Amino acid sequence: MVGTDGRSEVRVPSIANWKLYDSAAEGLREYWYPVAQSAAIGRRPTHVKLCGQDIVLVRDSRLFALEDRCPHRCVPFSGGGTPAVAKRDFAGHLTCRYHGWVFELESGRLAAALTDGPDSPIVGKVHVRTYPVQERCGMVWLWPGEGEPSVPVEADIPEELLAADARVYSRSSPRRGNWRYATENGFDESHAKYLHRDSIWAWFRKIPSFNTMTLFIEPDGKWLSRGKSDIHFQQDYPGLGRWPHYHRLKVMKHPSSMKSSATSVRLPGILRVPYPGWSIFEWYVPVDARTHQYVQVNARWTNSLAARLRWWAYYTFLIRNVQHRFLNNQDAWMIGIMPDSHPERFFRPDASITAWRRLVETTARDFHGIVEATAAMAN
Ligand code: FES
Ligand SMILES: [Fe+2]
Repeated sequence: MVGTDGRSEVRVPSIANWKLYDSAAEGLREYWYPVAQSAAIGRRPTHVKLCGQDIVLVRDSRLFALEDRCPHRCVPFSGGGTPAVAKRDFAGHLTCRYHGWVFELESGRLAAALTDGPDSPIVGKVHVRTYPVQERCGMVWLWPGEGEPSVPVEADIPEELLAADARVYSRSSPRRGNWRYATENGFDESHAKYLHRDSIWAWFRKIPSFNTMTLFIEPDGKWLSRGKSDIHFQQDYPGLGRWPHYHRLKVMKHPSSMKSSATSVRLPGILRVPYPGWSIFEWYVPVDARTHQYVQVNARWTNSLAARLRWWAYYTFLIRNVQHRFLNNQDAWMIGIMPDSHPERFFRPDASITAWRRLVETTARDFHGIVEATAAMAN
C-alpha cells in the first residue's frame, strides 16, 4: 500500500523463511563498508578484517587495500600484531618482511623477489588480491565483493552525510556478536523501552512503556522505517500492578516518544535515528561470523561556525560519552551474550525485525542472482 506521502506500508508475513539471510553470517559482500578512520591510515601497513577477509591498508600516492597475506609463505603484510610489518622500499610498492617479495600496490602484481636476484623467474607470475577502496566523510570505505564494484561508493552512504553542509563525527569500536544481531538490535522496536530505562541517558527522561508501530518503506526505496503512535508511558498490568514507576525528577519525555522521529534501517546494515537538529547513523560492519565493528556517525547540517562549535562541544562532551558509551554499551552487552544460533519465539514488536529480514531477503545485491535462479527453477 502506498500512502499519500509516498511511503509504502510494509506487510510482514507471519511465516517466514530466512534462507538467504541466514546464509549471510559473514555479511553481505556486494556493498561498501566503512573500515577505518582516514586519519589513522598512513604509510605503515594497517590490518582490517571485513566479511571474514584479512585486508591490509596502506597509503602511498593514494590509499590502497590488498589481501593481508603474502602468497609465498602466508606471512601477513601487517605483521599480524607483531612488529614484522612489511617495508616500503620502493614508491608504489610493499615489500614482505620475510623474504623480500615486492608487490605493486596498484595491481597486486609481484614486481620483484629481491633475494632471488633481478631475473627471478617467479616475477610476474604471482598476484595478491587488491580491493577497491575510497575515502568519504573522513572514513575509509572498502568493497569486499568479488570483481569491480557494481555501484559507486556514494550509493552506499546516506546522502545526508554527503551534503556540503554536513558536519560529521564518527567513532568505531569492536564488538562481540554477529552483525545481524547488532542490526536487529538497532531496529528492534521494544528493547529500548526496557534495557535502556536504567541508563544515564534516561535518568531524567520518561521512556514509553509501549506503543503501536507502523512499518514503512521510504520513498527512496532504501530505508525501512518504523513509526510510532498510541504511545503509553504508564499502564496497569493484570495481576502485577502499575509499571513503570517514575521518580519525580523524570521531567522530560525521551525523544523516542515523538511521533515524528522514525528510526530507519537499510542495507547492508545501517541505522538512522533522527533527533531534533541532528541524526545518528550506525553501521554494523561484519568482521567475521562472530564479531562486528560498531561505527557510529553523528551529523548536523550547518554552515555557521558558532553552530559548528556548539555541535562539536555537545557531541564531544555529552553524546559521545553519555549516549555512545553508556547507553550503547548496554546494546553491546546483550548482542555479545546471545548464542551463535538459537530458536526464536517472536512477539508483536518483533515485526520490526522480520520486516528488516524480509528487506534483506528480497533486495540484497548478493542474492539477486540466487533469487532469479530460484524463481526460474520454480517456473
Ligand atoms: S613470506 Fe613473504 S616473501 Fe616469503
Ligand atoms: Fe539500544
